[in-house]
Amino acid sequence: MADFERVEHDVLVIGAGGAGLRAAIAAAATGVRVGLVCKSLLGKAHTVMAEGGAAAAMGNVDDRDSWRVHFADTMRGGQYMNNWRMAELHAQEAPDRIRELEAWGAVFDRTPDGRILQRNFGGHRYPRLAHVGDRTGLEMIRTLQDHAIHQGIDVHMEVTVIQLLQDGERVVGAMAYDRERGRFRLFSSGAVVLATGGIGRAFDITSNSWEYTGDGHSLAYHAGADLIDMEFVQFHPTGMVWPPSVRGILVTEGVRGEGGVLRNSEGKRFMFDDIPENYRSQTADNEEEGWRYTQGDKSARRPPELLTRDHVARCIQREVREGRGSPHGGVYLDIAWIKERLPKAAEHIKKKLPSMYHQFMQLANIDITTTPMEVGPTTHYIMGGIRVDGDSQMTSVPGLFAAGECAAGLHGANRLGGNSLSDLLVFGKRAGEYAAQFAREQPAPRVEAGAAEAAAASALAPFERDGSPEAPYAIQHELQRMMQDLVGIVRQEGEMQQALDRLAALSERAQHAGVHGNREYNPGWHTALDLRHLLTVSEAITLAALERKESRGGHFRDDYPDKDAAYATFNIVVRRGADGTMQLERRPIPPMPDDLQAIIEEQKS
Ligand code: FUM
Repeated sequence: MADFERVEHDVLVIGAGGAGLRAAIAAAATGVRVGLVCKSLLGKAHTVMAEGGAAAAMGNVDDRDSWRVHFADTMRGGQYMNNWRMAELHAQEAPDRIRELEAWGAVFDRTPDGRILQRNFGGHRYPRLAHVGDRTGLEMIRTLQDHAIHQGIDVHMEVTVIQLLQDGERVVGAMAYDRERGRFRLFSSGAVVLATGGIGRAFDITSNSWEYTGDGHSLAYHAGADLIDMEFVQFHPTGMVWPPSVRGILVTEGVRGEGGVLRNSEGKRFMFDDIPENYRSQTADNEEEGWRYTQGDKSARRPPELLTRDHVARCIQREVREGRGSPHGGVYLDIAWIKERLPKAAEHIKKKLPSMYHQFMQLANIDITTTPMEVGPTTHYIMGGIRVDGDSQMTSVPGLFAAGECAAGLHGANRLGGNSLSDLLVFGKRAGEYAAQFAREQPAPRVEAGAAEAAAASALAPFERDGSPEAPYAIQHELQRMMQDLVGIVRQEGEMQQALDRLAALSERAQHAGVHGNREYNPGWHTALDLRHLLTVSEAITLAALERKESRGGHFRDDYPDKDAAYATFNIVVRRGADGTMQLERRPIPPMPDDLQAIIEEQKS
């Protein structure tokens, strides 16, 4: 029988990036006992990869901005697949969440008159991203972490959750193990908040680090929760492409927000070639106007490099495919060119983009103040995830809440840059508050040891495989390559069917994969357990992508390259069927109330 430590909390938050920290702070503020589980060390989170800023309509740089414009931008960017209630709450509450963060000690860049500075980003009509150079996510994590540790929250570092525990349908805890000693920990709690981030490690080229294996998505799915929009994966247009060891590392959109332009191998600014109809009236059609916009000229329109990420990523992909790419399979992102316009441009670049300057200098031996960068799309974010109630963030399973990237709805088919940071603040707070309320109002949780023991036994199975079992790394690597090639930025029916067959074979192999050694810090074992989540989310992505026979946002199909209005009326739900297989359902999107519809109409021009 497995031996495990028992720990009790009123609210257990799984994941300690921005959403998890904000949820834990909110829950603790209500007086309940809160536990916070981090897979890695506290502070190491994908939140830091949102470098360029947090979107909030404060109107500090352009007073035409308001929550109404932000709401309309978010809906347009998400191609109207968004949960409109979440988009409304997000746009309304983001400014307060940013100001609160400032009151807790976040040091934002300032306007000349001392207000929080805001910068341009793709798809945002006005300069809207509150930022700290190009280290905004890092500053947010630092601030939230400082604040959280003074709230009496119990932090469980280097602990990985392997299964949610249920009493009937209700989630009442989780089974986990600590990575250092390999010992099991049984958490019982009145409510659980999932804030585990994304699934980037299901793909080969990604900005995500090793932790992001879709744990929350998969834990929720296996507990019976609905996943929605899993076909919408965001390929950020600009990741590093060279040298190979750093491929996929993020190059912030802030570079383009500060005037960086994209060129192909012929030196052409190819983004002018393809401006989508619904952005035409807001987009500059010449270099001069685009530059004036980045310099704050309110009569000018945005440069095409600041179109939405889905579009920019596909344009880059097209240039490379048609033979106009850079030597290492990307295109050129040039910020150095601003020296033609700005005195002291090099100092300006180093001040506004210090991390990018150091990243390229140290990793690629390139000085971005003089030389264009080579960049290409990198898997960065998933818009899809666990279906939640827009107000409370409760999932379709009682007692289970979700916030941040692992929750779906706010971003629809495509997320605007900077909306993730404000998302995690707004909905992290809401999830924490509602989870605490749920835990207070419900009877004390009852956790059956049997389920925990079965979870532990299943987790230990890879140690018990006879003979010379296959190592899990090889399977993980194959999965990542396969997803990149067959379910990546451009998709088609035949390839995705092939992906499903390959997934079935990989699942079979994963069930027989084995590990050696003991339980103390055993990376092979950790990989074997992560693999289960990766296989679950990869299947969900592939099935949903096959079901959506059109192209929209982060989902592009070569065989159905256009949008189909019939597909704009429902979300694709993935849920576990009674027979244990993945089932799909088309869930109608509730009609938008008239007042919100009126905002969309009013902001259309
Ligand atoms: O490009 C960036 O700085 C990323 C921001 C985001 O994903 O929100």
